[in-house]
Amino acid sequence: MKILFLNGPNLNLLGQRQPEIYGTTTLADIEDAVREQAEGRADIEFRQSNDEGALVTSVQDAVGQADVVVINAAGYTHTSVALRDAISATEVPVVEIHLSNIHAREEFRHNSLIAPVCQGQICGFGPTSYILGLEAALSIK
Ligand code: DQA
Repeated sequence: MKILFLNGPNLNLLGQRQPEIYGTTTLADIEDAVREQAEGRADIEFRQSNDEGALVTSVQDAVGQADVVVINAAGYTHTSVALRDAISATEVPVVEIHLSNIHAREEFRHNSLIAPVCQGQICGFGPTSYILGLEAALSIK
């Protein structure tokens, strides 16, 4: 079982970026926690890109490479028709995750363009959203 974690723009700045919202845990710390939780249960690949096209290509290329994709699309969650179309087009199930509760924040964050084409959405649990995303991914395959 292989699970691909995709991380969108600005998530490389976790730890220093708006710590009052996103906390002080870095993306590398989150990756370590996910790998530890997945040990003996799944192979984990972790990627981050600030580039919308790179994320689209990663979703397209997931077929045959990953059993489930877990995505924190960050800002592209709310804007990217291209990412939604890539998720719609793939046979690989996709789990949407967010650190913050996007429904409790600014109105423009309430709408996720990708939510209707994902298996489900986990948000609001900080770094634990990634662990819950892992468990969700393990439960659907
Ligand atoms: C985020 C929420 C998004 O609205 C925001 O643009 C991010 C991070 C989260 O994990 O809480 O960059 O996806």
